[in-house]
Amino acid sequence: MHRFQYAGNALHCETVDLAAVARLYGTPTYVYSAGTVEDNYRRLAGSLDGLDVQVCYALKANSNLALLRLLANLGAAFDFVSGGELRRVQAAGAKVNRSVFAGVGKTEADIRLALEAGIFAFHVESEPELARINHVAGQLGRKAPVAIRVNPDVDARTHAKITTGKSENKFGIPLAFAAAAYAAAAKFPHLEVKGLQMHIGSQLTAVGPFFEAVEKLIPLAQQLQRDHGITYFSLGGGIGVVYQDALASGSSSWWEALPPDQRPITPEAYGAALTPLLRPLGLKLLLEPGRFMVANAGVLLARVEYLKRGQGRNFLILDAAMNDLVRPAMYDAYHEIVPLQRDTSRRALKVDVVGPICESSDCFAKERMLQELGEGEYVAFLSAGAYSFAMASRYNVRPLPAEVLVRGSNFELVTARESFEQMIAGERIPAWLKQGNQA
Ligand code: LLP
Repeated sequence: MHRFQYAGNALHCETVDLAAVARLYGTPTYVYSAGTVEDNYRRLAGSLDGLDVQVCYALKANSNLALLRLLANLGAAFDFVSGGELRRVQAAGAKVNRSVFAGVGKTEADIRLALEAGIFAFHVESEPELARINHVAGQLGRKAPVAIRVNPDVDARTHAKITTGKSENKFGIPLAFAAAAYAAAAKFPHLEVKGLQMHIGSQLTAVGPFFEAVEKLIPLAQQLQRDHGITYFSLGGGIGVVYQDALASGSSSWWEALPPDQRPITPEAYGAALTPLLRPLGLKLLLEPGRFMVANAGVLLARVEYLKRGQGRNFLILDAAMNDLVRPAMYDAYHEIVPLQRDTSRRALKVDVVGPICESSDCFAKERMLQELGEGEYVAFLSAGAYSFAMASRYNVRPLPAEVLVRGSNFELVTARESFEQMIAGERIPAWLKQGNQA
């Protein structure tokens, strides 16, 4: 469920007319619905009924400071994968003492930063990493809390580039080696074994793979409770969202109209499947969702620059490009594209929706049926709250887009569009080059 809908013929976020946002702040601009994030958080945090759950939002999906603060105020902790992400959480005014540090390549500097900040645990992905964390903790005279990410070797049935729980992926320690890795961890003087971690992939649309993975890890969890006194089980992220029918999925009637076995994954279905498996363990549970928390809470607004009529093809050329939203170019991802001003009297046109960047992969959608649009009109890319701004770049020297947060009838700029001066601020021309000839 989300809070983007037409009121009359104007697309609104909560009760804000998105065309007003586009006119005021320009485009491309991301707009987020605080109410949708709140709903997502509450539904997921309550999904494992009666169990002790801590949601650690995976901020790689969207690390906007205002969103981090919103989630922290709701009770979320965080899952970070770099020193930079940890510092973003702190910059948002949130504590890190319930937060975890994931990722296969933690540097010594990152480990030191996290130990000094007093995080809840490191989610460790290899034996050399155990040794490194032990070493840094020893230098600081501390004990580092750790959990090992165990790879359960299940098929998450998602896009190949975002599946992580198969043995051919680089992530985690294979289940067969896990007991030995825990025994090794327990021998390090500066480590404290605290939990068990898994994460099998992203954009999972069914509960089955989660169930299978948890079921596979339960005997290990029980053994680790006995042998090492672990206190928590971290289930990772991965809950998928609706991209194809994004606008309609904002209403509960859309879900109810679907046959139950065809309904996309919901927190309720996730909880109903996993709670009976997890309850007997009596462990604290960590959930590390990224996409689920923010994807359907964000849209990207763009302006139509040209409608170019080609030979047998029409191109709708926008002012947003693959540098602003790379998911279609990178993963062939589908994002629903809708006009901010709907006009049912106009004919529908089949268009390729593209950006202005000089390469063919700068294409958001091929042969999409869209109401005929012209210069100066606006469109919104739906479900663009996750892995969208977070993956934006400055390719073609295009500034990072602006971000706006909506709450009810209010909206506020939370990230100003980057200026040209900010884009080049870190660069220097060496003195020896300045003496050279200029054309
Ligand atoms: N925990 C770990 C260890 C992860 O690697 C990830 C995501 C998450 C949690 C959060 O997963 P989520 O709940 O968001 O599925 N850029 C890609 C997605 C990459 C996901 C990477 N890891 C995309 O745009 O689809």
